[in-house]
Amino acid sequence: MAQLENKVALITGAGSGMGRATAAVFAREGAKVVAVDINESAVQETVKTITAAGGEAIWVRADVSKGPDAQRMIEAALDAYQKIDILHNNAGIFLVRFLEDTTEEEWDRLMGVNLKAIFWAVKFAVPYMKRQGRGCIINTASTGGFLGQYMTPAYIASKGGVVLLTKSLALDYAKHNITVNCICPGAVETPMLRKHFADSPEPETAMQRERQLVPIKRFLDPEEIAYAALYLASDRARGVTGTALVIDGGSLAGYVE
Ligand SMILES: NC(=O)c1ccc[n+]([C@@H]2O[C@H](COP(=O)([O-])OP(=O)(O)OC[C@H]3O[C@@H](n4cnc5c(N)ncnc54)[C@H](O)[C@@H]3O)[C@@H](O)[C@H]2O)c1
Repeated sequence: MAQLENKVALITGAGSGMGRATAAVFAREGAKVVAVDINESAVQETVKTITAAGGEAIWVRADVSKGPDAQRMIEAALDAYQKIDILHNNAGIFLVRFLEDTTEEEWDRLMGVNLKAIFWAVKFAVPYMKRQGRGCIINTASTGGFLGQYMTPAYIASKGGVVLLTKSLALDYAKHNITVNCICPGAVETPMLRKHFADSPEPETAMQRERQLVPIKRFLDPEEIAYAALYLASDRARGVTGTALVIDGGSLAGYVE
């Protein structure tokens, strides 16, 4: 039996990378997917692929950092499917910049998309989940939620915030049967990672060096993260809340030769 039969899952950042892979895996497992992204053509493509494979999905264009957009995406899910079982706050942006070179706009934008978006989505989704008597929230943090990283202070601060916001929300909503967890990916082969290397002075060297630092000597595949999200979204994980699930090829375990 499919693991998400009759479930409605809203996934942000579903137009690319891990969000797109998770949307596809959730749909294959029987979920009705509400795919949200700021990039309309990208999210339309995700939905096209899902429906072509026989799955069920709709798309919503929204900037998750904006309250009215967040409200609209939750309402779109309720209009289409009358419930939200799984809210996956996955959209995120990256910034490589020393703090003194970071503008206030860049700081606010990054915090808006990576952290405040969770504030908005939870604010609008939780009242419905409480009424349903059940819910599942999965946030995307990063291994950077546990460890500093060179030249990415705003990003790392946002992801550290996601880890502890997750734990705090888990405590607040446990009595309402709403689980709140986050996934913490290491380096995953997505457009975000590829752009990061493309922006460095010697992309190929930077990529090889970074790959060698991962104990399993490869970057993760977006589908490997999607299956971690699937576990947290499934009924098998109803007893799991407040956890930060690390999927990083061993990177946080320590150093390797
Ligand atoms: N790729 C990695 O190595 C890695 C590692 C750890 C954590 N993460 C996190 O995983 C998540 C997904 O990253 P990815 O690598 O798949 O990135 P990606 O860039 O491939 O995809 C991110 C998607 O989010 C969308 N998005 C950006 N801003 C948005 C906004 N304001 N509103 C709605 N949608 C918006 C983009 O259009 C894009 O489709 C992010 O939160 C990222 O920080 C990535």
